[in-house]
Amino acid sequence: MAITVENGVFHIETANTLYQMKADAFGVLVHLWYGNKTDYCMDYLLDYPDVGFAGNIYEAENQRTYSLNTLPLEYATHGVGDFRVPAISVTHGDGSTGLDLRFLEYRIEKGKYGIPGLPAVYAGNSEAETLEIVLKDKYSEVEVSLKYGVFWEEDVITRSVVVRNNGNAPVIIKRVHSLCMDIPYGDWEWVHFHGRHTMERQVERVPLIYGIQESSSTRGTSSHQQNPTVLLCEKDCTETAGFCIGAAFMYSGGFQTQVEKDQLGQVRLVMGINPDTFSWHLDAGESFHAPEVILSCSGNGMGELSHRFHNIIRNNVCRGKYKLADRPVLINNWEATYFAFDEEKIVKIAQQASELGIDMMVLDDGWFGKRDSDTSGLGDWFVNEAKLQGGLDRLIGQINRMGMKFGIWFEPEMVSEDSELYRTHPEWAMRIPGRDPMRSRYQLVLDMANPEVAEYLYQTVSKILRDYNIEYVKWDMNRSICDWYSVTLPKERQTEVPHRYILGLYHLLERLTDEFPEVLFEGCSGGGGRFDAGMLYYCPQIWCSDGTDAHERTFIQYGTSFFYPISTVGSHVSAVPNHQTGRSTSIRTRGTVAMAGSFGYELDLDKLTAEEKEEVAGQVCMYKKHQELIYNGLYYRLSNPYMENLSAWAFVSGEQSKVLVQGVVFRAASNVLRTRIRLTGLDEEAKYRMLQDGRIYTGKALMSGGILLPQIAGDDVSFTLFLERI
Ligand code: GLA
Repeated sequence: MAITVENGVFHIETANTLYQMKADAFGVLVHLWYGNKTDYCMDYLLDYPDVGFAGNIYEAENQRTYSLNTLPLEYATHGVGDFRVPAISVTHGDGSTGLDLRFLEYRIEKGKYGIPGLPAVYAGNSEAETLEIVLKDKYSEVEVSLKYGVFWEEDVITRSVVVRNNGNAPVIIKRVHSLCMDIPYGDWEWVHFHGRHTMERQVERVPLIYGIQESSSTRGTSSHQQNPTVLLCEKDCTETAGFCIGAAFMYSGGFQTQVEKDQLGQVRLVMGINPDTFSWHLDAGESFHAPEVILSCSGNGMGELSHRFHNIIRNNVCRGKYKLADRPVLINNWEATYFAFDEEKIVKIAQQASELGIDMMVLDDGWFGKRDSDTSGLGDWFVNEAKLQGGLDRLIGQINRMGMKFGIWFEPEMVSEDSELYRTHPEWAMRIPGRDPMRSRYQLVLDMANPEVAEYLYQTVSKILRDYNIEYVKWDMNRSICDWYSVTLPKERQTEVPHRYILGLYHLLERLTDEFPEVLFEGCSGGGGRFDAGMLYYCPQIWCSDGTDAHERTFIQYGTSFFYPISTVGSHVSAVPNHQTGRSTSIRTRGTVAMAGSFGYELDLDKLTAEEKEEVAGQVCMYKKHQELIYNGLYYRLSNPYMENLSAWAFVSGEQSKVLVQGVVFRAASNVLRTRIRLTGLDEEAKYRMLQDGRIYTGKALMSGGILLPQIAGDDVSFTLFLERI
């Protein structure tokens, strides 16, 4: 049994971890432990110091040492004496804000709970268990259920929260975080993933300061600027040793992660919907379901933690036909043509691609409405016959006859003012009455909280998918959102629009992915602006970044790999000089980097030399040969590109028999030794033959001494080594 309860102590065990909490004598749910297994009740670590200006609950009478402000709490509330960041904050019908949650009851069930209207990690009944602990406000009828989904094999615990208003008057939820975790001891560092358009998920690891540090988004998307994932590492934690805790929020809208180091050096981590763009009006009898956080920890470093997240996301978050299957190698025309294409051009790209072994032609932005630049046409999802005279039918027919699949781009959530849709339904674009809306990339945002809008989008997109042989959809979203307002909601509910937008989006994606299980959906938001576990529930891959420069990509993909499996990372070879940075790298380097993902091309094949085309054909072949290893093998980060002159990674098969080592050496230097890298995750007792030099190494030598890379000449030169156990 993964979940047991003994003398009021809740033990949640997985194969290698233990989570403990207990309802104490006052009914306060106290957090005891999350970490390696201890075979012990960890409540001996609770301390009850008499700290100045720490208040005491009334029932504690004159015990100055019992304080909510110093105890590690399982779900911290606002307004009753804990002055650290709360997990939840409400306003009651009488305008007061105290919430004093005490233990009421618990339930244990087989299987994993689901969350109405929201994506959630899923499992068969025998694969997971659910613990629900119900807390109730001492003085009102507000109830809060804490839900824990327990995945034994995977060493993962999910958390979610339900708030119920069992009283007679409305309650306003001002904040409801999905995760709250107090950690009283240790020297912790905070790892978060910041960035910008074309440079997402850059890794920053910093010691905690006293006070609150935060990563968040108020953009209506999980954002390029911060990712809804976080790591807390003990100071000595490395890729292969030391303790760390990771959390990933399964949500695609605004989020907030706060880490507070309090006056005693204790750490609190909270994660949930961003309260700056959220509050919820909970009428009497209503419930609110918060999205889910995926949680894991490891005593063996960040590499193992990443494997746990890769595993659970690939197997229990992603869905559909392509979740575990090989994906088609694609060519996308965006960077090849931008808006300037016609049928002939697309057919030519497809023709050349098919000769090189590429499986699918993806027609990007510009095929619809009056869309000759980004100033018009969004919303008009009917073919642009000025560009595609024969319509989609003729184009797709030609592509299919080459033996290629066909995929297409949509940006359903957006509208151009210069479009038929906007002229017919200006009220469908979000704007605050009496104010001009903000434009971004010249476009406005459709009100996804309006069921009429969502229904229109469903009808339009599904008709196209029904009418044509489309086997892939790129679902784009190209701006941040403000001017939150829905004509469908009363004034007291306008603060709900950002969350209702996401609910509307998820509902639409659920309908479409359910109706078209054969179609591969790829998420996108100007590249990786909505790269999160929520979107991965609907789209098993996401275009990782509009930054396609191979050098910069090694950093982007390094950061992305901490939580997200390689199969989810859309990655393409593009033209040089690179359109974002002007840097030129070889076709080989670009190919090596793009192979650490769901692979494709995004350039005009016409402009390649014969040798480059040969290289492309070789890359496609090699990718197909190793795709299973790349997707299902364990992914190891072998260097830190921020600290070293290279980015190196490896894929090791489950039975440790095949190893693909790849990477890029950044800067050449004269009169230096060859670069050495040490491998991880091999079988120590085995011997491996390296394909490239035919030499036989022991697993121990490869992991302790490492291998010397071939002599490198020039900057940003990639390498690929393949080893097989003999
Ligand atoms: C976004 C995407 C690109 C491309 C363009 C089209 O920026 O990330 O890949 O589809 O939109 O407008």
